[in-house]
Amino acid sequence: MIKYLGSKRTLIPALSQLGKASGAKTALDLFTGTTRVAQAFKKLGMTVTASDVATYAECFGKTWIELDSNAVDHSALLAAIDELNALPGEAGYFTEKFCLEARYFQPKNGEKVDAMRKHIELYYKESWLYYPLLTSLILAADRVDSTTGIQMAFLKGWASRSANNLELRDPELLPGAGFSVRGDALEVAKDLPPVDLAYLDPPYNQHRYFGNYHIWESLVRWDKPDTYGIANKRLDARGAEMKSPFNSKKTMAAALTKLVGDLNCDTMMLSYNNESWLSRADLIDLAATRGHVEILDFDFKRYVGSQIGVFNKAGEKVGVPGAKRNIEHVVIAGEKSTVKRMVNSLK
Ligand SMILES: C[S@@+](CC[C@H](N)C(=O)[O-])C[C@H]1O[C@@H](n2cnc3c(N)ncnc32)[C@H](O)[C@@H]1O
Repeated sequence: MIKYLGSKRTLIPALSQLGKASGAKTALDLFTGTTRVAQAFKKLGMTVTASDVATYAECFGKTWIELDSNAVDHSALLAAIDELNALPGEAGYFTEKFCLEARYFQPKNGEKVDAMRKHIELYYKESWLYYPLLTSLILAADRVDSTTGIQMAFLKGWASRSANNLELRDPELLPGAGFSVRGDALEVAKDLPPVDLAYLDPPYNQHRYFGNYHIWESLVRWDKPDTYGIANKRLDARGAEMKSPFNSKKTMAAALTKLVGDLNCDTMMLSYNNESWLSRADLIDLAATRGHVEILDFDFKRYVGSQIGVFNKAGEKVGVPGAKRNIEHVVIAGEKSTVKRMVNSLK
């Protein structure tokens, strides 16, 4: 799976369990990023809407959330992947910007990316294969990059994985129905159809995803923008236009309060990190506008539910709350019996 800051990889088993216990048939993942959480809900049989402001996240959503693997021709996808893997490399914008001027990928792999991206645009633009092929290309590039997982900088020496040959693989579509929406959460939330369960995972600090993942943004848009600095970020990454109110201490609380008020859902789940700007008490106050509130605290190895004890990932009680570090809060708000049922499902 792709490297992504703040991705909920380790929380998926617990979020799945909570989603299942909620009884939701429809769900919204409003800051979907990699779509990991949306995928987990889709695997539970829910009809899911995945939304994010990033173009690459929309691409992931169109691949894993919008497409129904039972309704498409899998062999056509595999044939297109084989066709792309067989293309000879051809240096272009990607090689120049991200392999020669900056060194995120070895040139041999940049040349492959250029050739494949050009081919996808030329021959698959109008096809259902467009987004799964782009997703497969991003995943392939991510496997041979030379970064620590963010595109603010590249490593001084080549990462050993960057020497591997870039190769597209089956992105493994999921069965079921869903939707992918690109847009600012503050603008789209109020207009989306009602759902049983909404999950919110906003950014936790000042670092903008648009700048941290500028290469994926440019690879999907394929607009070949001018760049700046050693990291060769898109010029528009430094403009005010792509600034998120969730990336500023000044605007975060008001933005989240408005968003929570605008949501069209029965139950809300909100992830938030304890090393960030809003305190546990702030989060509880904010969520209280949506009904009964419970808050669960997770860390890397276990989750600490201050009100209900310490549990391991299997949901077994293993002790009382201890010293906390880098805690991920999950705030659940809504109708009391539903919220209680969700929390109890982890006991
Ligand atoms: C913490 S990450 C979400 C990670 C995701 N849950 C996962 O597991 O991959 C926050 C996401 O919020 C998105 N984002 C930032 N500002 C936004 C805004 N104003 N509206 C919608 N999405 C936004 C970023 O692009 C990023 O993908």
